[in-house]
Amino acid sequence: MSKYLINGGKPLNGEINIQGAKNSVLPILSASLLTQQKVVIRNVPRLRDVDNMLKILKNLGVDYQFEDNVVVITPSTLSSYEIPSGLARELRSSIFLLGSVLAREKRAKVAYPGGCDIGLRPIDLHIKALKEMGVKIVEGGGYVYCDAENMEPSSITLDYPSVGATENVMLLATAIDGVTTIANSAEEPEIEDLQNFINAMGGEVSGAGTPFLKIKGGKPLKSVDYTVMPDRIEAGTFIIGTVLTGGEVLLKGARADHLNALFSKIQKWDCKIEWSGGNILVSASGKRGELGIIETKPYPGFPTDLQAEICVLGAVANGSTMIVENLFETRYKHIPELQKMGAQVKVKDRIAVFNGVKELTGAEVNAFDLRGGAGLVLAGLIARGVTEVNNVHFIERGYEDFDIKLRKLGADIIKK
Ligand code: UD1
Repeated sequence: MSKYLINGGKPLNGEINIQGAKNSVLPILSASLLTQQKVVIRNVPRLRDVDNMLKILKNLGVDYQFEDNVVVITPSTLSSYEIPSGLARELRSSIFLLGSVLAREKRAKVAYPGGCDIGLRPIDLHIKALKEMGVKIVEGGGYVYCDAENMEPSSITLDYPSVGATENVMLLATAIDGVTTIANSAEEPEIEDLQNFINAMGGEVSGAGTPFLKIKGGKPLKSVDYTVMPDRIEAGTFIIGTVLTGGEVLLKGARADHLNALFSKIQKWDCKIEWSGGNILVSASGKRGELGIIETKPYPGFPTDLQAEICVLGAVANGSTMIVENLFETRYKHIPELQKMGAQVKVKDRIAVFNGVKELTGAEVNAFDLRGGAGLVLAGLIARGVTEVNNVHFIERGYEDFDIKLRKLGADIIKK
């Protein structure tokens, strides 16, 4: 198992390119099955989650090539409708394949999905919505069996704006003649990217960015050449890293409009954020400020995927910081690790209260999930002495060349 060794105390300075959005690429890879014609997807980051999704597609019989951040897919070779448990366990996003495999094959057998262990991740909202679309579903033996021979357009209201459930319904609805609507749909930017991808294939989806989506399905979908939007969570991680260490970093190919919730929280730190023409410039003195209360919420609220990273700012902020994790119940596995580095924090249920300390000290810590691992690396950047972050494979699920990019910005980090 690889680890990062970080010698803290170096500010981040310079420029990096922001990768394509992991959480867009995964549903878009699934959506490629909606056509029989060639699909080209650009700006695809080299990530373990992407490799796992491609492995699943290959297992379904789909041919692809992946070079220089471009995936070329030949969806016509799809020859199976089953996602076995070994592969599904690796990746929660395997559940998105339900919508597109059903759209193509009218049946699917999918093992319950895995992914990061950040709490119970049920699929009840997916199942309920698909049933409302006329899909017959039987669950048993760790599998979900679906039959979509009698699917029909529907007006769905999600009980919660789940990103994955919204995406699954969008995918299946493209194959159903007529108009399907989703009320209380997720408003995340990744939904808009999926909408744009489907529309670039000749589909008719509207409403992304609002809580009401409309999908006019049944249109033949054609070949597409599509560039994935920038990863707002990677950008947010580097912004937090720059504010934390003090320095000036230019994030090239980033979307500032996706990061308003983060900007509003870090404005009390001595930093300046400017953006133009798809770049974000972060300048920070390293002088600390306050954070106050941060509650994770569905977009446009503060993203749960930046909770672990912002905890590190909380650990050294002026005064106390309260973090409330509303989305995932066990997403605080990084906190005992931060305590090993000297953070003063108390956790009760979904609330963590940090009492800002003067400095963190290097320690051997373990990543238990993707974003928690990234948070520990950020902590290592400001800690006195050496921090060893174990289980780097979790971080590589979502960050392309994390250590290389940080080194380029002046961090003293090596992978062993
Ligand atoms: C996506 C993101 C993930 C992010 C999350 C929330 C991808 C690949 N992953 O995950 O990085 O952290 O959005 O922004 O895009 N829920 C149910 N029943 C369901 C589905 C979800 O109760 O059927 C609950 C979940 O347990 C969680 C909440 O709804 O508490 C949000 O989950 P959801 O929006 O579905 O997240 P994902 O799509 O899995």
